[in-house]
Amino acid sequence: MTTSSRPLRVVAVSGSLTSPSRTTALVEAIAEAFGRVLPVESHLITLHELGPHLGGALTRKQLPQVAEDELQRIENADLLVVASPVYRASFTGLFKYLFDFVDQYALVDTPVLLAATGGSERHALIIEHQLRPLFGFFQSLALPVGVYAHDSDFTDYRISDDGLADRIEKAVGRALPLVRSSFEERETIERTLAGEEAVDALSD
Ligand SMILES: Cc1cc2nc3c(=O)[nH]c(=O)nc-3n(C[C@H](O)[C@H](O)[C@H](O)COP(=O)(O)O)c2cc1C
Repeated sequence: MTTSSRPLRVVAVSGSLTSPSRTTALVEAIAEAFGRVLPVESHLITLHELGPHLGGALTRKQLPQVAEDELQRIENADLLVVASPVYRASFTGLFKYLFDFVDQYALVDTPVLLAATGGSERHALIIEHQLRPLFGFFQSLALPVGVYAHDSDFTDYRISDDGLADRIEKAVGRALPLVRSSFEERETIERTLAGEEAVDALSD
């Protein structure tokens, strides 16, 4: 990997409506795992905090600045870590509501690690049947291994199951080559654009 000019911008999105939250603990643990192997700058968005700011907006223009800022962070992320609790066999309505405001082409090729928590093992396929198609729509690079956690993997809203910790490490390990090459490509584009701007400035 070439020397990076900046840390990887990781944006973690938790679709949980509650605090404390197992889902939020899960996305934080995944973002931290990336931070152990790459220089990262992490930002956490929770629907528990952001949800009330979305109000009843029908269009992006109706959103307050705080929500617009978070959308821009999502759209400019080098890596997204997204997770939702399973609600009625899918992601929470507010999780989808947030992503309905994201520009259709802003996440093209963005690596996305998919994760979810649920009260039942039987809903683990939310990752393949709900989350993967959503990020397929965005033409994102949905990473190969997702992480599903059951309520019993947590104690007091902290990860307490070694198996879950291992699954996080495995998902991050499998994601790493893809995240690295995607970041290198982005940096090359950024350097090229910065170079073109410098040339334009000289010729003005
Ligand atoms: C309204 C509601 C609906 C739920 N529906 C499901 C479900 O369909 N399948 C499931 O496995 N768990 C379901 N659960 C359990 C949550 O997904 C689970 O407790 C999750 O870990 C909560 O995450 P949190 O601590 O981040 O809020 C539901 C919980 C609530 C409150």
